[in-house]
This record gives sequence, C-alpha cells and structure tokens, in this order.
Amino acid sequence: MSKPKVFSTHPLFEAPRKLLDEHFAVDYWDHPERPPRNELLKRVADKDALICLLTEKINDELLTAAPKLRIVANVAVGFDNVDVAACTQRKVVVSNTPGVLDETTADFAWLLLMAVARRVLEGDQLVRSGKWTGWNLDQLCGADVWGKTLGLLGLGRIGRAVARRSRGFGMRVIYHDTVRLPAEVEKELHAEFMERDAVLAQADFVSLHVPLFPETRHLMSAPQFAKMKPTAFLINASRGPVVDEAALVAALDARRIAGAALDVFENEPKVHPGLVGRSNVILAPHMASASIETRTRMAAMAAENVIALFAGRRPPNAVNPEALEAK
Ligand code: DGY
Repeated sequence: MSKPKVFSTHPLFEAPRKLLDEHFAVDYWDHPERPPRNELLKRVADKDALICLLTEKINDELLTAAPKLRIVANVAVGFDNVDVAACTQRKVVVSNTPGVLDETTADFAWLLLMAVARRVLEGDQLVRSGKWTGWNLDQLCGADVWGKTLGLLGLGRIGRAVARRSRGFGMRVIYHDTVRLPAEVEKELHAEFMERDAVLAQADFVSLHVPLFPETRHLMSAPQFAKMKPTAFLINASRGPVVDEAALVAALDARRIAGAALDVFENEPKVHPGLVGRSNVILAPHMASASIETRTRMAAMAAENVIALFAGRRPPNAVNPEALEAK
C-alpha cells in the first residue's frame, strides 16, 4: 500500500523529520522564506496531511484546494491562523502543540520584562557604540523589578509559568482571566484574582497571556492604557492583535505608560512605525518559544499527531476531535 502523502511547509528538524519519513511520503518546503500562497495551494492538492506554521492561513480556499486532506498539524500552540470550523465541517482534524513551549515562552516573557525595565539593550548599544565614557551615578537608571506587582491577563499554562518565576523576585502577583482559578492553584502561585481594570490600575508590569479570539482582539486599547500607571510597562508574548498598536503608540507618545516589550505584532512581520526607534520599547521577532529543544519538540508533536491519525488513533492534540466522527 502506498504511504499517505504529507506536505510540510517547513523542512523541520532532523528527529521529527526521520519520524515522518518512516511513515509517509513527505514533500518538504525546503526554502528559507515561507511558501507563497499559490505554491502552498498547489502543493497540498494531492496531500492527505499538512504540517504548517502559524504563518499559513488555513481557510476554505486551502481546504478546497486540498480535497484529500485529513489533518492540519499546526506547529504552534496558537491556532488563530486556522479556520477550525471550516476544517471541522470537512472532517479535517486540526492539531496544535500545547504544553511543550510553556516554560520556554515564560522565560522569554521574563527576559522582555527585565530587559525593558532595566534598559539592557540601551546599555548594550552604548557599549558597542564606543561612546561609553565610564560609570556614572545616573546612567541608564531603569525601574526595579523585585518587590513590584506583576499583573497577568490570562493565567493558563504560560501565564502560570510566568507567575511561578516571580517568586524569586519577591513580587506580588495579581491576575484576571475569564475563569477564576481554583483556590489551591491561586494559593500555590500566590496569585490574587481581580477584575481586569483593577489589574491594570495596580500592576507595575502588565503581561499578556491570552489566546487570540474575537473577544481578545484589542484587549489592550486606549481605555486600558488609560487605566495603567504611568510608571508601568506592557509585556506581550501572546498574539499581536491582542494589543491595539496605534493606541499603544499614542499611550507611549503621551507618556501614559513607561514602556513596552513586544514579541508579537498586529500585522507580522510589519511593525507599527511609531514603535520603532523608541528606547523604551523592545521589539522581538515572535521568538518566545525559540529554543532548539522546544522548537524540536513542537515539530515532533505535530508529526506524532499526523502519525496517530493514520495509525487509526485519536491525534493527542486534536483541537476539534468532533472532526473524527464518521462522515
Ligand atoms: C505558538 O506556539 O503559538 C507561538 O506563537 C509560537 O511558539
């Protein structure tokens, strides 16, 4: 029997690639840039499975171009690039990569927080420029992190990993989420639940850890920035459209907030020009989960979901298991 056909929009890493090659006839997109849309549509035409990144839009157009498709394995925990309802309607399973990137992403959220508070990129630039004239009392004074209040919007797996790290800094942790956590989890994390506006008003650092849904789009806009302390910083390692970038730029212009550190943007890879060139803003290219260990695990997880489906098992990370019901 011939092997099922898979299109992978990335060459992946050695271990997951080996795993896939054992089971499938895999067509890998092997170029450094992302595949152009017309190429993607062409390459999925005869495929049974698709392994893709969050840069690929999986919608009706793609599903129509890929009539044999049975699974879309997204190499990301977020799957806002996938029209899940359209997939379910066509009995196409969608899988993601939850869990494996939580700690790595939380590390990076902390890196952003520390970097913007303590102005380390400005320091790096000063040293490299050759203009550093030596130690001075008021040079590059930033904001303390230890002992401050960390405000988390979203306390899922990544938010909790961020909260755990705050213990070493002796911080108070306050949070808001649509569902309040059980008391024992709050206790373990030393996290106090409060209304979103109260989190915004009290936090010295507001860090976002929500998925992108219609309800979370522009969760942070002008009214929310207006509630923050003028000394507070915004950290975003979730999804770009959660922040209204134009409103953020206006808040920075008006010194409504002290700064921002962003790993994600509203229209990636474009960045609002008002964010570039500001010393109190840190910009990173959507790299919070980018450790070699984690990215390899994410790719392996996507491969395992495809393998499970074709072995007659339920893909462990199916986000729409109802798509598995008989046609
Ligand atoms: C995800 O997984 O959703 C990230 O944005 C990339 O790690």
